[in-house]
Amino acid sequence: MSQIATLILDGESHDFPVIVGTENEPAIDISTLRARTGLITLDQGLGNTGSCRSAITYIDGERGILRYRGIPIEQFANGPNFIEVAWLLIFGRLPTSDEYAGFARELTHQANIDEGMKHHFDSFPRKAAPMAILSSMVNALSCFHPEFLELDSPEKFWAAAARLMSKIRTIAAFAYRHSRGLPYMYPDPNLKYVPNFLHMMFSMPYDHFICDELVRDAFNLILILHADHEQNCSTSTVRMVGSSRANLFASCSAGISALWGPLHGGANVAVLEMLQKIHEGHLTPQEYMRLAKDKASGVRLMGFGHRVYKNFDPRAKLLGQIAEELLPKLGKKDPLLDIARGLEAIALEDPYFVERKLYPNVDFYSGIILRAIGIPVNMFTVIFAMGRLPGWIAHWWEQNQSETRIARPRQIYTGNGLTDYTPMPGRGRTPAATEG
Ligand code: SDX
Repeated sequence: MSQIATLILDGESHDFPVIVGTENEPAIDISTLRARTGLITLDQGLGNTGSCRSAITYIDGERGILRYRGIPIEQFANGPNFIEVAWLLIFGRLPTSDEYAGFARELTHQANIDEGMKHHFDSFPRKAAPMAILSSMVNALSCFHPEFLELDSPEKFWAAAARLMSKIRTIAAFAYRHSRGLPYMYPDPNLKYVPNFLHMMFSMPYDHFICDELVRDAFNLILILHADHEQNCSTSTVRMVGSSRANLFASCSAGISALWGPLHGGANVAVLEMLQKIHEGHLTPQEYMRLAKDKASGVRLMGFGHRVYKNFDPRAKLLGQIAEELLPKLGKKDPLLDIARGLEAIALEDPYFVERKLYPNVDFYSGIILRAIGIPVNMFTVIFAMGRLPGWIAHWWEQNQSETRIARPRQIYTGNGLTDYTPMPGRGRTPAATEG
């Protein structure tokens, strides 16, 4: 029997339906609230507000569950194949072998970018932030592929998704090569998704980078673990921008910008910088933890905490295992991994972190693995964006397929009441900076 929620205002009752999702998560449908009561709700940070119905990813933050189209992420760990998972997220089911082969062929075929786009890289300063380049060049795809501004058929959407999935690698690799003054390495049609990316990143004209199978599988799993996460900040941004019927490239470019923030995808860079500061600053994990608990310090334990996961982030568990297994196999020992493990051990016991349910999140270990693979720190969030791209594409298309109205939240106004215009001469002196 469907439930209702009753709001009593000035003695008058207003009933609202309670809707329930696949996993019995309930929500009050308030879509008629303002029309019926004149009220809106206020929810700073939107932690209590559902923005949509979605069938792509399910998260249970209390039980540390993350499923892509119903499949637990742990089941992708054996023989990880990012493109297969990307197809699952974007098209709603696992691909048949023909579908997979056709999509993989298109990714290979579309790996190059227009030579005109390549010349754009030369105009960026060498020290330009790779996320700024990535966001602008993904948006620039709408200049070079105008035929995909309007995706009015599944076939066109399939082609646009393949182009974007394929070309983001080349854009990312070319951004890195430009930053180091290295020649661009063109995609190699004989290589699969990850080996081709690492070839474009690390090969030289006289020295072909060979992708070790261990690295290939670890990198595939990293991309899979970042592939989607329901209505996180960047995905919500993609949906918000897409709700105005902005094209796929522009919407994903906006998602890249949102992901850049240190509270979101930029945290993987902040984690590495934090671990390096502890290592080089000769701080002990205990000393750093004291800072992280002291609000006045402005220090946060980066890579810890999550709006949804209040038990553990299943991705952090898998990434921690990858770090432990991969580094020794690559013959690498990273003191930052020991520091990370030390911080985690302290936090799991410390009342400050336990009471606030702060556990390692996806960003805590990913940087250590990327560093072991040779990815420079300023490219970590770019790798996160490459992983998250199929999720963004899937959400953009899911929203595009439903009769969605443009997203337009309301607000509570706290500014001036009615105020008259004062001509310039009558405005007196400039108030001192300290005055309100
Ligand atoms: C990602 O949404 C997603 O799904 C995101 C993501 C995805 O896949 O898309 O999972 C990817 O963005 C992971 C998060 C990466 N960010 C970080 O690691 C940055 C460090 N973490 C925090 O800034 C914070 O935990 C957030 C941003 C992740 C979550 O912020 P919330 O939910 O708004 O929590 P909050 O800021 O309200 O904090 C609640 C309390 C506060 O203390 P009190 O005021 O209650 O005393 O916990 C404290 C905070 O000060 N706190 C921390 C902390 N995180 C929260 N204290 C120290 N270190 C931290 N990391």
